[in-house]
Amino acid sequence: KRIVVLISGSGSNLQAILDQTRTGQINGSIVAVISNRPDAYGLTRAEQAGVDARLLDHKQFADRESFDQALVELIDSYSPDLVVLAGFMRILTPELVRHYHGRLFNIHPSLLPKYKGLNTHQRALDAGDEAHGCSVHFVTEELDGGPVIVQASVPIAADETADSLQQRVHALEHRIYPLAVEWFCLNRLALTDTGVTLDGEPL
Ligand code: GRF
Repeated sequence: KRIVVLISGSGSNLQAILDQTRTGQINGSIVAVISNRPDAYGLTRAEQAGVDARLLDHKQFADRESFDQALVELIDSYSPDLVVLAGFMRILTPELVRHYHGRLFNIHPSLLPKYKGLNTHQRALDAGDEAHGCSVHFVTEELDGGPVIVQASVPIAADETADSLQQRVHALEHRIYPLAVEWFCLNRLALTDTGVTLDGEPL
């Protein structure tokens, strides 16, 4: 399978997926990494791995619609089977989301449906939650609202800070994101009208 990864920052999730395409654990390859920010370290990771690293700076576009149109064009020039959002800090237009229906993943640092949006670690702490975690989901038009594919959780310790929680959840992200991509590349996942199926069974 052909995978395109979209990033805005460090790209540690990109790295985790990249590593598993290299070992053969994922039956696919990353054919391009696209960033909307010139300073994203993930672009360097892509270059070091010999993967096409492309910058599409949203500041060069008049509005979200024209940026997303250019983004779709760039992504589609790589004919991907799967598009992976890995810390891509842009809200996508409904047109783009619909265009990649059933083949667009995101990872979110909370146990969805809890804490959509930003500052998830602090919000979990403030709420006095006993556990926190991360979710890989199919992207639909509702922000952070698409059907969940896989989640991982950690118990929240008594002396926990947003920083310590962020670090522990990040480590979990690196385990579940490659797993979801692996399943997709084996044709084990599908997005249906009622949710996600794994090997034909509802999740
Ligand atoms: C992760 O926390 C992810 O959950 C969120 O953006 C961050 C990306 O981190 N959507 P990295 O760039 O993969 O290190």
